[in-house]
Amino acid sequence: MLTNETLKVIKERRSIRHYKEEQIKDAELQAVLEAGLYAPNAGGQALHFTVIQRKETLDKINYLAKENLKSHVVEDLKALGNDVNYHGLYEAPTLIIISGRKEFIPLEFDCAAATQNMLLAAESIGLGSCWVYFPMFAFDSTQAGDLLKELKIPMGYSPYCSLILGYKEGSAVDTAERKLNPITFIK
Ligand SMILES: Cc1cc2nc3c(=O)[nH]c(=O)nc-3n(C[C@H](O)[C@H](O)[C@H](O)COP(=O)(O)O)c2cc1C
Repeated sequence: MLTNETLKVIKERRSIRHYKEEQIKDAELQAVLEAGLYAPNAGGQALHFTVIQRKETLDKINYLAKENLKSHVVEDLKALGNDVNYHGLYEAPTLIIISGRKEFIPLEFDCAAATQNMLLAAESIGLGSCWVYFPMFAFDSTQAGDLLKELKIPMGYSPYCSLILGYKEGSAVDTAERKLNPITFIK
């Protein structure tokens, strides 16, 4: 099978859910953010990244998301909201929220592309990362407006994706095997 550094990083990246307390270096953060900026985009680069490294803010997002999950119609999500031991950000020291300008073109795709670029960049420099939808539940409440303001998300932008970053604690990997057959070739 043909391989190179990029293909290796793609295959080796896994969602990490155990992190060291130590904060990542600014140079590492900058490299990850820059990779996000270089993602393909349909919306004329109408993205905004919010980097959150203040522990109280991370805990607040965890708290608000869990409060909203407590009344979720999906039982498994409701259970997470009620699980006192669950921290939806896995105590990672850095959270990046990717917001897109609310407009006609669905910027969820732009945000997703930036997120994936950042996950791969993180892996390539030895950082742990995980795409987390969980923080989006924090914006599902009557307090959403206040949270958007507190996080300085620009007017007219909506958070669509987020990822956590940090140094990996142990080698926590429980990835489902990839099904290698969902591909049809028309030659
Ligand atoms: C859109 C999206 C949302 C996700 N949200 C969460 C989440 O909230 N919490 C979590 O632990 N993992 C989340 N994940 C990570 C997936 O569980 C993970 O990517 C999947 O199990 C495959 O494992 P791998 O990333 O190790 O290959 C999310 C992934 C995607 C693409």
